[in-house]
Amino acid sequence: MFNHTNCDEKNENLDNLTLAKFLKYNCQTTHDSVDNLVMSVKPFDTPENYIRFLQLQAIFHKIVDDIYKNPNLNQKIEGLSELARYDSVIQDLQDLNTSEKAIKTPLPQLSGAEILGWLYCAEGSNVGAAFLFKDAQNKLGLGAEYGARHLAPHADGRGKHWRDFVAQLNTLSLTEEERTAALKGALDAFAFYKIIVREIFELK
Ligand code: HEM
Repeated sequence: MFNHTNCDEKNENLDNLTLAKFLKYNCQTTHDSVDNLVMSVKPFDTPENYIRFLQLQAIFHKIVDDIYKNPNLNQKIEGLSELARYDSVIQDLQDLNTSEKAIKTPLPQLSGAEILGWLYCAEGSNVGAAFLFKDAQNKLGLGAEYGARHLAPHADGRGKHWRDFVAQLNTLSLTEEERTAALKGALDAFAFYKIIVREIFELK
């Protein structure tokens, strides 16, 4: 569901793109396959499905939690640690009287600038979460204070917060190798998300 029509950057030299545009441009197709896969398991149709969705989110946000709390990155991206959502996912699970689920898939080991791609993926997921938050409210009666805390918008509003975050991400000065590693991280993050959707929702 990325906005393909606004991708003027398609005509630009990829090397001249900001980091966020570079990641967006190269992740669109993968993102849309994740979006379709998640919607196909109907996460908001029943409380049981939503609990599985929370367990999936808990795994993903646990992996990126250390990135949000990385001291070096926090010096460069103001307020980064406060954006971590792992604790809110755990609270959402507790609201519904349930907890995290162990999975068989080994957790990925992230290194170097790959973490920037994982961070882009995790923080960007809150942009599209507007739709998910509405479904959690309308179909399941959940909200920012109960059960869907981690899907709630940032106090600044989703759009403004995302623009501010992207502006900070784009100030990081990366070598070509680091840029490539960041993209690998983002693609790995989306790919890992798909693997855990399949495991948690027991898809073939
Ligand atoms: C059913 C699930 C999902 C839906 C409906 C959805 C939908 C969307 C929408 C509508 C946008 C805004 C696109 C734009 O303005 O151009 C977006 C952005 C984004 N989503 Fe998703 N998304 C879903 C799941 C995910 C997941 C699971 C992840 C990560 C694991 C993710 C990562 C991102 C990222 C990184 C962006 C920012 C793109 C950018 O502007 O650079 N999304 N999503």
